[in-house]
Amino acid sequence: MAPAFIPLCVPNVDGNERAYVDRCLETGWVSAAGPFVERFEREFAAALGVPYAVATASGTAALHTALLLAGVQPGDEVVLPSLTFIAPANAIRYVGAWPTFVDVDPDYWQLDPGELCAFLRDDCMVSGGELRNRHTGRRVVAVLPVDILGHPCDLQAIKQIADQYGLTVVEDATESLGALYRGRPLGQWSRLTCFSFNGNKLMTTGGGGMLVTDDPELARRALYLTTQAKDDPVEFVHREIGYNYRLTSVQAALGCAQLERLPGFVAAKRRIAARYAAALGDLPGIGLMREAPWATASYWMYTILVDPARYGADSRSLLKALAARNIQARPLWQPLHLSPAHRESFARPCPAASRLNQVALSLPCSTGLTEDDQRRVIAAVRHVSAAHRQHDETRRRVPAASRKLPPSL
Ligand SMILES: Cc1ncc(COP(=O)(O)O)c(C=O)c1O
Repeated sequence: MAPAFIPLCVPNVDGNERAYVDRCLETGWVSAAGPFVERFEREFAAALGVPYAVATASGTAALHTALLLAGVQPGDEVVLPSLTFIAPANAIRYVGAWPTFVDVDPDYWQLDPGELCAFLRDDCMVSGGELRNRHTGRRVVAVLPVDILGHPCDLQAIKQIADQYGLTVVEDATESLGALYRGRPLGQWSRLTCFSFNGNKLMTTGGGGMLVTDDPELARRALYLTTQAKDDPVEFVHREIGYNYRLTSVQAALGCAQLERLPGFVAAKRRIAARYAAALGDLPGIGLMREAPWATASYWMYTILVDPARYGADSRSLLKALAARNIQARPLWQPLHLSPAHRESFARPCPAASRLNQVALSLPCSTGLTEDDQRRVIAAVRHVSAAHRQHDETRRRVPAASRKLPPSL
């Protein structure tokens, strides 16, 4: 019989989720109206220590709204890392602007402040009082750091560069809820920070997002734009184009229950990360996630680097070998400077992003992952290496001529 399937990362919904959703159903509050949405916003803001939170239909909707609030105009450029899920780059296109890709740092895999600086210094010029990309002629107006895989970017370094060049910062912390930068939660570091609650995130509402800010006017406008920009709800007067981007009550009810468990989820992810690090740290050719001096990571998606020369197999062979054992793993995203969807965008060379795409593999890390299941994953990763080494050793010992003989002879 095949061993039980171990998924990459699945929701953990066995707290108060059912009770709160039942309350929505019993009271009839199932749409965006009702007490749970505001309660979720209030409790989320309190958990992060930020003054305002506005719940959205998805993380992508939060990013789109944040870019509108940041005043990014059609034809502008926004700088972001090449190594990220595609949503923030797409959101930049939604406002008619262009993503500009720079590389990540090879140690922590986040937007490299040195590369951001190099782009602004070497590839941009000031013309008519505006910063422009000298290759495209477009105005460069914002930077969008993405805290990938549960680890914060070096936000102070990025902010300092952004201030020097007059750029707005819109932070995508969708993958790193619960992580700390210099001891304080993400959400506190940028004027506009976005989160996602889709199914595989640290906490989930099925689908959903949140935009947080310290600015009351931005919070007011976020609520306005995400609820169809209604100026007169009785007469249906709208002075602007708005969006149907509000989270529903049922989703918010899930969110309130999940939020109660956020510290426990972070602790579980950190425990899983520590176990992987202890069990795989000595395996030749396996590189582990590292925590920068400024970071307390949430380890949302535990990811290893596979050096084929030393490990004995490459990341895709390991992916297949794990799949054969009913264990789900996943490579990182195609770097966006290579993405056909964004081929018309400007990009600096991004060798670190390209290499990480080749060698990185995310391992099962659901908050509910049992120690037994994690041991199975660890044993499989160690076994694949040993098996490939043995195979290589046999190939070395058996002369090439005899290897070519058909097995029947
Ligand atoms: C880095 C990043 N940004 C944005 C998103 C978009 O979030 P959502 O799926 O809630 O739209 C995701 C995940 O889905 C993500 O990983």
